[in-house]
Amino acid sequence: MADIRNNFVGIKSPNPFWLASAPPTDKAYNVERAYAAGWGGVVWKTLGEEGPPVVNVNGPRYGAIWGADRRLLGLNNIELITDRPLQINLQEMKAVKKKWRDRALIASIMVPCEEEAWKAILPLVEETEADGIELNFGCPHGMSERGMGAAVGQVPEYVEMVVRWCKQYTRMPVITKLTPNVTDVRRPARAAKNGGTDAVSLINTINSITGVDLDTCSPTPSIDGKGTHGGYCGPAVKPIALNMVAEIARDPETYGLPISGIGGVTTWRDAAEFLMLGAGNVQVCTAAMTYGFKIVQEMITGLEAWMDEKGYATLDDFRGKAVPNVTDWQYLNLNYIAKAHIDQDACIKCGRCHIACEDTSHQAITNMVNGVRHFEVIEEECVACNLCIDVCPVENCITMVEKQPGEIDKRTGKVVSADYANWTTHPNNPMAKVAAE
Ligand SMILES: Cc1cc2nc3c(=O)[nH]c(=O)nc-3n(C[C@H](O)[C@H](O)[C@H](O)COP(=O)(O)O)c2cc1C
Ligand code: SF4
Ligand code: SF4
Repeated sequence: MADIRNNFVGIKSPNPFWLASAPPTDKAYNVERAYAAGWGGVVWKTLGEEGPPVVNVNGPRYGAIWGADRRLLGLNNIELITDRPLQINLQEMKAVKKKWRDRALIASIMVPCEEEAWKAILPLVEETEADGIELNFGCPHGMSERGMGAAVGQVPEYVEMVVRWCKQYTRMPVITKLTPNVTDVRRPARAAKNGGTDAVSLINTINSITGVDLDTCSPTPSIDGKGTHGGYCGPAVKPIALNMVAEIARDPETYGLPISGIGGVTTWRDAAEFLMLGAGNVQVCTAAMTYGFKIVQEMITGLEAWMDEKGYATLDDFRGKAVPNVTDWQYLNLNYIAKAHIDQDACIKCGRCHIACEDTSHQAITNMVNGVRHFEVIEEECVACNLCIDVCPVENCITMVEKQPGEIDKRTGKVVSADYANWTTHPNNPMAKVAAE
């Protein structure tokens, strides 16, 4: 059986599945039940500074986007950091850590961007014997208007400065949680590294409005007729998170910096993808909020079964394996030729592939052959764009088939070459011509 024990910046957990800082980790009652269900670690709901706690709205704080089957695809929230007193949270954290020694417990923190504020809270957190801290530089609503959260995460200089303070005033490992609400996530990641962070975690939530109530003319979720942007998460954000994780994993300036992958992790497969793109572990929020704590059991057994099947004994055996295969567009092999192929036995003749290709792609799928409804790829026209596969309701009914060297590409009439050739040397590339002259 595969060994999925995890060591993330020296913090050990029985598996790589941590709950992200959010309502599931808001109090001892939740965290203990999460541990009992099997979660390897939790990042406690973000703590604020001593004093009167923040105040949340008393109307809806979530909005959602669903698939046609009402499956939740994206979740939006306008919740703030913990609204429980700091001392209560600290007492509970200490008691929970004492009881669950083998699980990771991380304290998420967000205090004003002032040295004294960070200096004051760090010893209090250290007292709980938490395994590490996560700096919440990502919350995009409410707290950012007060100069915290994303307001810090969007300014690399601030990120570096606060990380430096934390490294100075605590010996606990520091994980810097990044906001995706930036144009280039590598900049805050590099800043965190320069400040001495032990790791980064990403993504926090994405600025969003999930909808507009067409009767009240108010964005949703609506509080007494008014709405505000919230933070988007759940399965819909996974592609954005994977890309940002990959950008940091392959950036020469942050290469090797431990990453905690967050964003839409719902199944073991999602987790494996994050790990393969260089993440050291994963954090989960929306999946637990949608399906409950026990979803981790499927994640654990699924990951173990897949690793056994692949012959991976430990997580390190496949961690980062996809990173060298992430490249820039200009390095893709332009001599690689594929064509769509329809399995006639699987086809239910719905016609969606034909309509998609006929109206918006390359007119490369028939709908009638000899007066009979028949869907077949016309290789002379197919550019292998993948749209038909994406819209076909039958899984694996249409597949992409690679042409082998020596075969003829019926669209261009050229022989498929075994050589690799990319845009940097392509004759149509004006820059390539300049380089050649
Ligand atoms: C209701 C809610 C509250 C959240 N509160 C916090 C928070 O206090 N601190 C924090 O760092 N992230 C917070 N997050 C963000 C999550 O930790 C996580 O980064 C995000 O939800 C993406 O993961 P997911 O797609 O698995 O949900 C919150 C998310 C939700 C849905
Ligand atoms: S891959 Fe694109 S071009 Fe080819 S048949 Fe499908 S939709 Fe048409
Ligand atoms: S979309 Fe799929 S099932 Fe529908 S006609 Fe095309 S190949 Fe057949």
